[in-house]
Amino acid sequence: MIPWFVGSVVRREGRKFLEFSDKIDLSRIAGEGRTHIDRVSLYIHIPFCRTLCPFCCFNRYLYKEEQARSYFADLRRELDMYVGLGFKFNDVYFGGGTPTVLMDELDYFINYLRSKFEARRISLETTPRELTSETIGLLRQLGINRLSVGVQSFDDGLLKDMGRTLFKGADSIEKLRLAGGKFDTVNVDLMFNFPTQTLEQFKADVKRFKTLGTDQATFYPLMSSPHKMDALSRKFRVVDTSREKQFYDIILHELLDSGYKASTAWCFSRGDRMIDEYIVDYDDYIGIGAGAVSFLGGDFLVNSFSLEGYHKLISDGRLPIVRMRLLSNPEHRRYYMLTKFFGMKLDAAAFRRRFKADIHSKLRAELLFFKTAGITREKDGIISVARRGMYPVGTMMKEFFASLNTLREYCIESGI
Ligand SMILES: C[S@@+](CC[C@H](N)C(=O)[O-])C[C@H]1O[C@@H](n2cnc3c(N)ncnc32)[C@H](O)[C@@H]1O
Ligand code: SF4
Repeated sequence: MIPWFVGSVVRREGRKFLEFSDKIDLSRIAGEGRTHIDRVSLYIHIPFCRTLCPFCCFNRYLYKEEQARSYFADLRRELDMYVGLGFKFNDVYFGGGTPTVLMDELDYFINYLRSKFEARRISLETTPRELTSETIGLLRQLGINRLSVGVQSFDDGLLKDMGRTLFKGADSIEKLRLAGGKFDTVNVDLMFNFPTQTLEQFKADVKRFKTLGTDQATFYPLMSSPHKMDALSRKFRVVDTSREKQFYDIILHELLDSGYKASTAWCFSRGDRMIDEYIVDYDDYIGIGAGAVSFLGGDFLVNSFSLEGYHKLISDGRLPIVRMRLLSNPEHRRYYMLTKFFGMKLDAAAFRRRFKADIHSKLRAELLFFKTAGITREKDGIISVARRGMYPVGTMMKEFFASLNTLREYCIESGI
């Protein structure tokens, strides 16, 4: 009942949240009054994949070498524009798509980026299929700190249902063993609540992760996918959530009870680790690449999703932002609360620093609701998410991502 209620509130808020405007006011990005310019993370979207998974809800395109090379050149120009505006980034996150799809370009890009600013930590996503001893060696040389591998499941039957037929569970295990210990953190992405997935299959996946000793796992509840190019992908437009909580309870039982730490409501680590939720660790972030989203001081900025649109804007020497949404102060505070709860704790002092206000006066009704519902508890100025609050908090985040997916769908359909 509570997850349903909070989910529907976020869905309603999320719809308002994402009423984006096509009026782009670039003076808000580096205009006077921007005080947070030194504490911004950088997300870099590489939207190419060798095959397209039918369930995938991200902005991705089938890999073509020439197009990908031109895209990397555009990314460098977009990076230059932000550096020219005075941005410096500490932590850098490569996501996709598949960032390792063209290793020589990735190599060149990371060196280029390091010549512009000191990247303290770099996180990068890939698929097991891409991982060879050679790629792992190169990624180490490039100073990648966190490597995230999209395994989805170790179960061959389920992988087949997912449309990931080219790779077997045993191959993923071999690749994870190869990468283990070579980076500060190796993460594996696993999915749950897939239509044909049984609870037993999922439990076996979680147990397999534990026996492998991999540092971290991020568990994604299946989210609806906007793509509809064939019958298989159309099947993933609506998601049945009736069993979702049962899957989630397996994660809590298998991992929290065995000493793993919840880095977010979906990410479980052995000890303190880097996570790829830059929206949790950083209040402000810049996203570059096709379909990347930025958040700066209460403003959402959305890049062109289409490769052609993105290329055209960059070629014209412009930032490729096509939509903007300026949050009101209450919306900004609620967004802040949502992202911090997803990261398991909200620090009242950090809230005061950002909003120059007391959290209990500004979010009185919300905090009372979460506390009364047993979702959060407070001690010494830290409002943390209780075990029974983790599923509702994950549901809120899922609804927020679903709102972004709606925007993505609209932009993809309109060729924006
Ligand atoms: C953008 S992908 C990048 C990883 C890599 N391309 C791969 O698939 O191995 C990051 C993760 O998002 C998750 N994901 C993709 N589509 C999803 C969906 N429709 N619902 C929930 N999670 C999804 C998968 O777990 C995937 O590993
Ligand atoms: S799940 Fe990963 S490999 Fe599959 S289409 Fe999405 S980004 Fe590409």
